[in-house]
Amino acid sequence: MKKRTDFLVIGSGIAGLTFALKASKFGKVTIVTKACLDDTNTRYAQGGIAAVFREPDNFEKHIKDTLIAGDGCCDEGVVRMVVSEAPERIKDLIKLGVPFDKKEDGTYDLAKEGGHSEHRILHHKDKTGEAIQKTLMLRVRKDPNIEIFEQHFAIELLTQHHLGEVVKKNYPGIKCYGAYVADLVNKKVIAFLSKVTIVATGGIGNVYLTTTNPEIATGDGIAMVYRAKGTVENMEFVQFHPTSLYDPGTRPSFLITEALRGYGAVLKNMAGEDFMKRYDSRGSLAPRDIVTRAIDNEMKIWGDDHVWLDCTHLSPEGLKDHFPNVFEHCIARGIDITKDKIPVVPVQHYSCGGIKVDINGQSSIDRLYALGEVSSTGLHGANRLASNSLIEAVVFAHRAALHSGNRLGDLTFEEEIPNWDYKGTTHLEEMVLITQSIKEVQMIMSNYVGIVRSDLRLERAMVRMEILYQETESLYKRSLISKKICELRNIINVGYIIIKHARNRKESIGLHYSIDYPKKARTEPLPPVSPVDLDH
Ligand code: SIN
Repeated sequence: MKKRTDFLVIGSGIAGLTFALKASKFGKVTIVTKACLDDTNTRYAQGGIAAVFREPDNFEKHIKDTLIAGDGCCDEGVVRMVVSEAPERIKDLIKLGVPFDKKEDGTYDLAKEGGHSEHRILHHKDKTGEAIQKTLMLRVRKDPNIEIFEQHFAIELLTQHHLGEVVKKNYPGIKCYGAYVADLVNKKVIAFLSKVTIVATGGIGNVYLTTTNPEIATGDGIAMVYRAKGTVENMEFVQFHPTSLYDPGTRPSFLITEALRGYGAVLKNMAGEDFMKRYDSRGSLAPRDIVTRAIDNEMKIWGDDHVWLDCTHLSPEGLKDHFPNVFEHCIARGIDITKDKIPVVPVQHYSCGGIKVDINGQSSIDRLYALGEVSSTGLHGANRLASNSLIEAVVFAHRAALHSGNRLGDLTFEEEIPNWDYKGTTHLEEMVLITQSIKEVQMIMSNYVGIVRSDLRLERAMVRMEILYQETESLYKRSLISKKICELRNIINVGYIIIKHARNRKESIGLHYSIDYPKKARTEPLPPVSPVDLDH
């Protein structure tokens, strides 16, 4: 079965929906999403969206903060472009109806997060992602040029490979003609032919045991593009959020927004010490990679399962008003954040690397764009500055819509693409094999490819991942398509790429920290030598 559309958008978070709304002025847009329209990473974003809004802030300060966080690995041209276009894109969101919080005097209430030298984060309480997602969904559902397919899982990108040609990695002539998409309800695979395809599938969180990402975040877009021989880069830069609620067994981990530290909350170890001062002069508001490693180190020194985030010195009314989501979630678990310290641990949160794209969001594969967390634009470098991800998504979605929209007239459908071949596949009875393999991948990645790495750990991870890869590929070839087997295949692909890129990087920089390579001097002195360092 085949369907045709001008723009095939895979994913329905801020990047995919913003693109869809802008591209619908040029042609017919089809959005496919493997779950429901609002099952996205975007919905979970608490903190907000960064942009320069008023003095004393200015573009140079936001650029400098982004470059410092990125630890020398950002593309400065991209950083300048994103920072300077950000205010216009925020105005677009406001026009669409996103209710960013205002102060009593009518001006926008700008928050501050780690690594930012100024208050520049627009937010809606501590539910910014949800507010943006709702607003965009409302608009998309009303747009007559946009069609939405929920419970439709994109499993493979269509390229010359499907016309019988041999396609080599990074070959400049690869073109994308759409995707094979599994209709999960009716259990059939549709060949969606498109003139332009957009991968906006979000994060990779479920490659790890603990993550703030929802269960849909299985790195599908990155795995698909990698299998289609597109360029994927910087996957070693996995961002761990320093403060998720310590609540063993709960998936996803509940995020305790960094904006809370921007509001005055302080990290403390079990002895009650404000330990961050020993690691960085910015204390609890240092960039995320520094705070995460410091927490990891403190937990190892003392053998503790978590550290504390203390906001008991802050105004109870202010806390409840600014952070209702955190307040309510914690109170339901017996923690009153106005009176009790919050137990927190670092967990996987964001992928800074991804599908390499140019300034218009175009990947190395012609007619294929990648937007949002799935992409690697050059903005984040080795470590993303807090709240720079939502703004990256809207800036690149705008550019990609204009760029692809203007070339639509030159593109045609590739009608020779065959229908999906079901031959030799049967229903998979052994679901337990899949669920067990998913757990194994997550254990391997969390134990050996987490916050602190070494050559030996990475080698061990690779050996184990290769076994899982072989087993899963053979299962995949024999099975009828199911969501779980596709997700397992994708997390194995993504895990493999992370390990490979981490092994190639023979230094400690930004989010990639290996005990085998000394950390280069950065803007701040190195943390003190710990009394007990279990990593040696
Ligand atoms: C947070 O609210 O701490 C998360 C914001 C982000 O990841 O940029």
